Amino acid sequence: MSGRRPLVAGNWKMNGLKASVAEFGRITAAYDAALRAKVDLLVAPPATLLSTFAVVALGSRVAVGAQDCHSNGAGAHTGEVSAEMIADTGATAVILGHSERRSDHGETDALVRSKVEAAWRAGLTAIVCVGESNAERHAGRALNVVRHQLAGSLPEGITAANMVIAYEPIWAIGTGLTPTIYDIAEMHGEMRKMLVARFGAAAKGVRLLYGGSVKPENAAEILSVADVDGALVGGASLKADTFLPIARAYL
Ligand code: PGA
Repeated sequence: MSGRRPLVAGNWKMNGLKASVAEFGRITAAYDAALRAKVDLLVAPPATLLSTFAVVALGSRVAVGAQDCHSNGAGAHTGEVSAEMIADTGATAVILGHSERRSDHGETDALVRSKVEAAWRAGLTAIVCVGESNAERHAGRALNVVRHQLAGSLPEGITAANMVIAYEPIWAIGTGLTPTIYDIAEMHGEMRKMLVARFGAAAKGVRLLYGGSVKPENAAEILSVADVDGALVGGASLKADTFLPIARAYL
């Protein structure tokens, strides 16, 4: 309908040891020709596993992404990882502005924007997360909050290839709660309108993912919503048995 190819992306967060490489191997093995024809698949492991996952993914067409990057390319920033370092592992994308980064590390929209520029400088696709808190939704401010986050977090120059946006209501992350289909449709429709108003035709090809308690049981319904072009999946992405059925909603 839209011409946008769906993307199901897994965010492993701070989970995964060398022993998890076998599970990632099960994910790449299960991404068969039928799935490849319909949906893109990406896994974002912790930084320690990026290089290994990138090698395991070779030939499978499963993309590997990071969960954050620094805005500088190199330098005196103890403990940080640059977008260039991420690209050097073979990863092709980076999640930016996840609500856990925004809350645990005080990341602002301006910082997220500078990280998007860093990701582009290194040739990575940025997956920018936005979403309201429970209090903001109950105060009727969800659309406004997301509008502000998008305005502040995105630099000029977004394209279908360099940008993916994930709407992740904070109260839905890891809770088993999800918005109604109506609320997801409203938010995604509004996000598309905001993006097209600012960026023009380029925004029509940008994929808008939904994230927050996506599971095999609710994937088909959520992924059928107009302007939902895929999912960003946390907990259910850790196992092939729960991650792949989400992608199979597109078969
Ligand atoms: P969840 O996490 O699927 O475990 O709710 C989603 C996310 O934080 O990206």
